[in-house]
Amino acid sequence: MLDPTGALAHDEHRRLRAHGSAVQVDVLGVPAWSISDPVLLKELLTSAQVSKDARAHWPAFQETIQRWPLALWVAVENMFTAYGADHRRLRRMVAPAFSHRRITALQKNIDALVTGLLDDLDALAPGEVVDLRDRLAYPLPIAVIGDLMGVPADQREAFRHVVDGVFDTTLTAAQSEANTAALYEALHTLIAAKRAAPGDDMTSLLITSRDEDQDSGSGMSEDELRDTLLLMISAGYETTVNVIDQAVTQLLTHPDQLALLRSGKADWGDAVEETLRLEPAVRHLPLRYAVTDLTLPDGQKIAQGEAILASYAAANRHPDWHGDSADTFDLTRPLKEHLAFGHGVHFCLGAPLARMEVITALRLLFTRFPDLELAVEPAELQPLGSLISNGHQTLPVRLRPTA
Ligand code: HEM
Repeated sequence: MLDPTGALAHDEHRRLRAHGSAVQVDVLGVPAWSISDPVLLKELLTSAQVSKDARAHWPAFQETIQRWPLALWVAVENMFTAYGADHRRLRRMVAPAFSHRRITALQKNIDALVTGLLDDLDALAPGEVVDLRDRLAYPLPIAVIGDLMGVPADQREAFRHVVDGVFDTTLTAAQSEANTAALYEALHTLIAAKRAAPGDDMTSLLITSRDEDQDSGSGMSEDELRDTLLLMISAGYETTVNVIDQAVTQLLTHPDQLALLRSGKADWGDAVEETLRLEPAVRHLPLRYAVTDLTLPDGQKIAQGEAILASYAAANRHPDWHGDSADTFDLTRPLKEHLAFGHGVHFCLGAPLARMEVITALRLLFTRFPDLELAVEPAELQPLGSLISNGHQTLPVRLRPTA
């Protein structure tokens, strides 16, 4: 049974690996095959015999969504849960906004956003303790995706609360249902506002193309439009915050590794990749389904219609991949590979943007506050209550020593 509280995450991942490449687990009352072997996981993530479309390929779908706290994860109608041609159609409508050229053009804006957030922190008295999640790690991605999607300033905080709820796996089914209702209400408000007064943003662009394509049937349904916005906003809000949080935590608890960055022996990109490997923002990703009966290399069988869980965090520390030092934070590791952004056709669309945000935040933060330190013992940092998200509830730091 997977731990919904995240309290013993790495112990859980170790136990999954110890059971072999695939093991049946209980995900809040739903059976699934957890895959922790990176080779097998990559194979399944690129196989046409494995789908993310619950309606088409998961016989338990209708019954499960009535009672499962994670129902939204499998019931949304967007590229995240689409298969084959539908997936290509839905991804194609958003992908151009994430091209290398478009993302590179955002660097200046991201520099300015981080600088503004650090300026606010600069005003604090020496020795004062601040929650870096609240003051940097959250506001940055919220501003970036908020600007990109055109989320009005007064809706941004409301989205934060309900998006947090989507990733909180300690909620009951009823709490989760109420959270989904609040999230959909916020999305309807956003769509109505943009339909009435379109702006120069992706939400308006998607609405326009949906409304124009409505008759030809080549575009998105209204539900797909709503759920695509849901995906973009929640993916933008909830993941990058945890990478910034985890990277700062790792660097502050490994001064030797921070020294490598300061002396130029490693670069900020190395710090981000090693954080993504060791403490990926997404631990387990629900769900995928076997389209046909599958026989795994070790002889185990996953029957058609059974659910599969990508256990990214467990795979990233697999000793077959990263040797005896797989549990160590090491910026000089020759092999930087990880599965933190997934693999195959569902590979994270926002990866270049997320990398740019985290690199910029770390570089400017550690330059501005060279004496930055944790304000609590590392063991006191509390994990998020989630089997999906991997971050801390708060990240208390001291920016400068007490005068
Ligand atoms: C460091 C931060 C991030 C991490 C660790 C991350 C992680 C992931 C992972 C693991 C997947 C694959 C899910 C699967 O197994 O099917 C994914 C998909 C996706 N991510 Fe991210 N993500 C991050 C940031 C972002 C951002 C900033 C955006 C956009 C604003 C974004 C948009 C998406 C989208 C649209 C998909 C779905 C792609 C598809 O199904 O074809 N992500 N992400």
